[in-house]
Amino acid sequence: MSVVKRGAFIVFEGCDRSGKTTQSRLLAELLKSKGIATVSMNFPERSSSIGQVINSYLTNSKDLPDEVIHLMFSANRWEHMNQIKQQLLKGTTLIVDRYSYSGVAYSAAKGLDFDWCYAPEKGLLKPDAVFYLKTSVDSLTNRGQYGEERYEKVEFQSRVAQVFDRICYREASYWHQFDASQSAEDLHSRITSIAEDLLQKVEAQPLDTLS
Ligand code: TMP
Repeated sequence: MSVVKRGAFIVFEGCDRSGKTTQSRLLAELLKSKGIATVSMNFPERSSSIGQVINSYLTNSKDLPDEVIHLMFSANRWEHMNQIKQQLLKGTTLIVDRYSYSGVAYSAAKGLDFDWCYAPEKGLLKPDAVFYLKTSVDSLTNRGQYGEERYEKVEFQSRVAQVFDRICYREASYWHQFDASQSAEDLHSRITSIAEDLLQKVEAQPLDTLS
C-alpha cells in the first residue's frame, strides 16, 4: 500500500504592498510547472458570509469594534481549516497569502493586547514555513499614498511592521525573513530554494497546530 505524502503549508506575511501577492503567485506557478499539486489561497477569504462582512469593514462601508473584527478574521480562518487540512493530507501544497500572524500584527498595531490577539489562533494548523517580506519604514514612506482600504496608511503600517518583527523573532524556527526591497526575481529564487527543500522535508511529518 502506498502512503500518501502530505503537501507543505507555506504562508507569506508582510505589510500591505510588500510584494507578498506577487511572490506567492510566482511560487505557486513554479511548483505547478514542476507537476507539484499546489493550491493558492489568501486570507481574508472574502467570499464566505464572514468574509463579506470583513470586506465591508476593510472597504470602510461598515464599522465594527476592533475586538469584533479581530475575531471575525480568526473565524474566517477557522471556517476553512477542514478544507486546508484535507488538501494537505491528500498531498496538495498550499501557498497562503496572509494567515494568523496578520491577524495578530494588525490588531496589536491598533493597541489590542498581543496575547489576547493570539489566543483565538491557537489550534489552527501551523504552517511549515512563513516567508516574511520585510519592508523598511523608509520604503513604506517612499511608496507614497497607499490605496483606499482602511489599513493602507504609512504610520499604521510601520506599527504593523514592528509587530511582525516581534513575531518573526519569537517564531524564528520556521520563519524566513527577506528584504522586500530586492528585485522580485532575486526574491523568487531565494524563496524557491527554501520551498523546494521544505516540500521534501515535510512530506512524512505529521501536521502541527499553533500553540
Ligand atoms: P489583503 O490586502 O491581503 O487582502 O488583506 C486585507 C487587509 O486585512 C490587510 O490590510 C491586512 C488585514 N488583515 C487583518 O487585519 N487581519 C487578518 O487576520 C488578515 C488575514 C488580514
